[in-house]
This record gives sequence, C-alpha cells and structure tokens, in this order.
Amino acid sequence: MRHIISIRDLDRAEIDGILDHAQALQGQEYNSQALKGKLLGLLFFEPSTRTRMSFASAIARLGGQSISMDSVEASSMVKGETLADTIRVVSGYVDAIVLRHPKEGAARLASEFAQVPVINAGDGAGQHPSQTLLDLYTIRQSMPLEGVTVGLLGDLRYGRTAHSLAHALSLYRATLHTISPKGLELPSGLAGELRDTGTEVIEHDDVQEVVRDLDVLYVTRIQRERFPDSASYFKVASSYRVTPELLTGVRDHLVVLHPLPRVNEIDPRVDHLPYARYFEQSANGIPVRMAYGGRLEIEPTTIKTNPLSY
Ligand code: CP
Repeated sequence: MRHIISIRDLDRAEIDGILDHAQALQGQEYNSQALKGKLLGLLFFEPSTRTRMSFASAIARLGGQSISMDSVEASSMVKGETLADTIRVVSGYVDAIVLRHPKEGAARLASEFAQVPVINAGDGAGQHPSQTLLDLYTIRQSMPLEGVTVGLLGDLRYGRTAHSLAHALSLYRATLHTISPKGLELPSGLAGELRDTGTEVIEHDDVQEVVRDLDVLYVTRIQRERFPDSASYFKVASSYRVTPELLTGVRDHLVVLHPLPRVNEIDPRVDHLPYARYFEQSANGIPVRMAYGGRLEIEPTTIKTNPLSY
C-alpha cells in the first residue's frame, strides 16, 4: 500500500516515470479500463474545483468510479466523529482516498488510520503533491526540467503548491527565485532544507528585479483563508500583479504558470500572451492524475472486514 502525502514520498525516477506515463496518455482517448471496478473516495473538507473534478475525471477515464464527502457539515463529523474514525470507516468503502483538509498534517494522520492508499490533495499550508506533478509536467512540455530557473511569486508562506514544487524542483538542480510580500516569504525551514540539497534559493522584494532572467514564473494567490483576520489579508492583497507590461523583454520561452484559482494576481490580458500556460496546466491534471492513479498499487477489490475492528 502506497500513500502519497508529500512530494518527498516520490524520488526523481518515480516522478519521471509518472510524467512519461502521462505523456503517453496525452492525446489518447482516455478510455482505459485499468481501474475497472475500483472506487475512489473523495474527501474534500476545503473547497476545490480542479483537484476534486480532475481526480473524479481521471478515475472515470480509467474505468473506475468515485464517491465523495463534500464537507464536514454534511458528514457525521458534525456529531463529533474524529478524522481518524472517519478515515477508518471510509477505508471500508473505497479502494483509495483523496483527502483535502485545512489542517497541515491531516493527510499524514489519515494515512496512519487508513487501510487503503491516501493521496494528499492539499493539507493546509503543507503539501499538494499531485499539483506538483502536473506543474512539472507542464514545464516539461516546454523545456527540460534539469537546471530550470523558476520564479515563485506570491504567498510562499501559506502556499502549499509552492512548497511541494520547490521540493520537487530541487531534484532537478533548479535555481529558485522567491518573490513574496513581506511576511509571506518561503518558511525559513523549507528554504534551509532546499539550500542543504544544493539548491540556490535567491530572495527578491520585487518581481521586476528578476522576471527577465526566468524560464518559468509560477504565480500563486494570497491564501486569504489561512490569515488570522481580514485586516492582515488586506495589508498584502493586491501587492503584486502580473501584467503584459511586466512581461516586456522576458525570455521568449518564458512559461507563466498558476495552480489556480487566481483572484487578481494575473491580469486577464496575460491570458492571450504566448507565455500563459495556466489553463493547459489545469487541463494536464487529467493525464497526470491518470498516470498517478496507475501507481497507487490498488489491491484487487475485496469485501472489507469491519474497519472498526482493525
Ligand atoms: N490547484 C488547485 O488545487 O485548485 P482547486 O483548489 O480548485 O482544487
């Protein structure tokens, strides 16, 4: 049984294998029966459009099915049931669980109680490993990952997609330029870990300083939902915005990515520039999550014993 909680759970060879597999799937009719009879449980305790729908789409295109729990309010957790018990119970109903949860560490905890593989679909400000795979895949469609120069722009403190991506890029000897509003810098522990692996991490106050030196500009939204109050959010909201003017003179092959949703950090006029790849990036969730699903080592479907007796 293989849980995928952090991008660190995959080594470079495994990541490359998933990306190669996704590439082989891309452009096919996506109507495999590889997971026929398998059931994926989607437990999303935070809002999602892309992750949830693309996992549901990916399992359906592999011949499997999904069932979902959409909110704490709609579940017996409102009666006081713990996440641990919820996961034990759902393990009895499905062959793998995709979990999104507002608390960092929730997916790791779930994996300790699950009898089926758990995929972390975002745990608070922690990690979002499947997003990283499709981010890498989208970069690789334009250029080799090895030695790529990437600007991480935005909320790098709470932005889990940036955390996972930075880890993954360190496997490819990338150079990382981090640009964030004051107080939203990459956590120092994470920056230290990256530097310990030999990754160059260079901090900037303003994206103007570095945008012309980048191969990839990875833009993130300010994670308003993680702020303690609205006042502290409004202090930094709208402190950066990618516009066609900002992108004047950038490298021809620059790729602008964003995990989405965007709020106002990318001017819609950028959508029409050749650099904009964020909608292709979200569409890449299908081949990448199909390829990723194929690695889950889901056991043949069996009738589960009472999960509470584990
Ligand atoms: N990129 C991403 O995680 O989007 P959703 O929140 O819509 O799933």
